Amino acid sequence: MTDNKITVPDIINSKGKRKLTMVTAYDYITARWVDKSGIDMVLIGDSLAMVMLGHSDTLSVTMEEMLHHTRAVTNGIDRALVIGDMPFMSYQVSVEQAVVNAGRFLKEAKAQAVKLEGGASVVKQVQAIVEAGIPVQGHLGLTPQSVAQLGGYKVQGKTAEAAKRLIDDALALEESGCFSIVLEAIPSSIAEMITSRVKIPTIGIGAGPHCDGQVLVLHDMVGLYDRFTPKFVKKYANLGEELLNALKQFRKEVEKGVFPSREHSFTIKSEELEKIKKS
Ligand code: KIV
Repeated sequence: MTDNKITVPDIINSKGKRKLTMVTAYDYITARWVDKSGIDMVLIGDSLAMVMLGHSDTLSVTMEEMLHHTRAVTNGIDRALVIGDMPFMSYQVSVEQAVVNAGRFLKEAKAQAVKLEGGASVVKQVQAIVEAGIPVQGHLGLTPQSVAQLGGYKVQGKTAEAAKRLIDDALALEESGCFSIVLEAIPSSIAEMITSRVKIPTIGIGAGPHCDGQVLVLHDMVGLYDRFTPKFVKKYANLGEELLNALKQFRKEVEKGVFPSREHSFTIKSEELEKIKKS
């Protein structure tokens, strides 16, 4: 572990002092670049089901797949806090299963914390996981694992009643021991209220500027995931286009015999070459 490794207390203590940053990563090499950037937290999101595995939602990713990707990410991270996202049905069925599966992220994949979705309904799980010594990040608002129940990927907390439920859920998560809470796709004003009511940092994604930090799916923000881009995503690069141009240029150069040139080829001494020709 490096001296400047970000810890859970660092994240909690940053509230009100500086804004936090978090992005997703699903593999070693991307994790290396993320760590170099100084981003505080890296989430191996269950969004990897869509971004890495091509599924249409996050529901079918398994614990084994999540652990496989988490291992790759932790190999690439020296500084950032690594958070493993608990997949659908890895914590909902029982408190015992939730603790066992949360533990696997730390024990088998060297994550430092886990994230799970839901409010009051997962309080028992959060308490038990925290009691086992595993830091938990909550996730409220648009919770993609409940897409069937929510009726689609829609902004949440838009009525007074729904917003009140979100505030109560955030307080319940704080009370049960979460070290931070992701707020996804909710009105900025409600995220601001939650942020001022809880003592732990809120990390927004489509939740406006008042959260204590921001998270984005890396493949969205660099223009690599082209299936769908939510309104809350800002594209900071267009790596998809760059990649496409590189691949097209490679194909053209090979077809025209331009690549490989002498610069990318190896030679053998002429006397050695003569010997082979004579043999
Ligand atoms: O799975 C994921 O990428 C997430 C982020 C959107 C917070 O949960």
